[in-house]
Amino acid sequence: MKGLILSGGAGTRLRPITHTSAKQLVPIANQPILFYGIRDMADAGITDIGIVISPATGDEIRSAVGDGSDFGVTVTWIEQPEPLGLAHAVLVARPYLLDDEFVMYLGDNMLEQGLASFVERFDAARRHVPSPHGDETLVGAPSAQILLAKVNDPSSFGVADIDTEGRVIGLVEKPDDPPSDLALVGVYLFDASIHEAIENLQPSERGELEITDAIQALLNSGRVVHHEILSGWWIDTGKKDPLLECNRLVLDTIERRVEGAVDASSVVDGRVVIESGARVVNSTVRGPAIIGQDTVVEDAHVGPYSSIGRDCRIERSEVDNTVVLPGAVVSDIPRLTDSLIGRDTIIRRGNARSRAVRVMIGDNCHVEVE
Ligand code: G1P
Repeated sequence: MKGLILSGGAGTRLRPITHTSAKQLVPIANQPILFYGIRDMADAGITDIGIVISPATGDEIRSAVGDGSDFGVTVTWIEQPEPLGLAHAVLVARPYLLDDEFVMYLGDNMLEQGLASFVERFDAARRHVPSPHGDETLVGAPSAQILLAKVNDPSSFGVADIDTEGRVIGLVEKPDDPPSDLALVGVYLFDASIHEAIENLQPSERGELEITDAIQALLNSGRVVHHEILSGWWIDTGKKDPLLECNRLVLDTIERRVEGAVDASSVVDGRVVIESGARVVNSTVRGPAIIGQDTVVEDAHVGPYSSIGRDCRIERSEVDNTVVLPGAVVSDIPRLTDSLIGRDTIIRRGNARSRAVRVMIGDNCHVEVE
């Protein structure tokens, strides 16, 4: 089985961060979101992975991932010239996918559950479906398997209609009148029949070839689509608040590791990672939190659920529930909370006293807060 990770897409809902950087490279606990998907695939035994990239952010993603050897996988790069939909991404990946089965993963989605059991279930259903004659054939075997999660706002997703016997009978993309509250999570398993379904698709109202419509076409042609209800959390990290939530969930799983220097007047409390070369001077770091390589925290308080990237400087400030990208400076800010700070950004207080600051800010900005 091959893997296909979709890592194009403009990331409009994370602007300005994504004006200068790919949304799949925004860090969660100091690791690009995309890396979690690659690791999930590797853990499920999928080591032949195609990554679909856009002309705008492809080079950055390629250099972050390299040849895949850090993850124990082999990566094939597939350029999607225009963002014309998830099914279009499969179409451009066809020369790589050939007729192999594949798991498709949206590069900005994160799941608590790994992929291993999801993949095993599909494999088992395809290899061991008893035929009416008693032998094992592919009769009745699924052509696709989807992962579903109950959501409060199904109209924002692809939605599945399941009959009383638990069979998938319909799928609709972002419906006004959703048939259920079961949303399609960004992980799918397909066999080669999906390609034929995609070849006959028409673009949706938003002008995209929808993978949801392609799966509906499989159903229309009498093919079987299995589903699994997600266990654990799932986050589409494409916006600031879900991204911060994802950061909290991942930080909740980290183990304490202090490699950088912590001076005698500092307190590092709980599950905290201080990466090598980092310095904590006269400060408190309260976990779960991570302080990146070569970052300096001085006369500051870094509170729970903060991920501070490498080469940052946090001084005379209090920071919590915040993701700070590499190279940023936070100086004299009484309380910075619920924020996503872009690369090489400077946030510095002016003369007047101020209270809490909440921002979502792009790369290379310079902000003075009075
Ligand atoms: C896409 C799919 C949708 C799915 C969602 C999961 O939506 O089209 O069916 O539920 O991903 O994140 P998009 O992110 O393109 O709005």
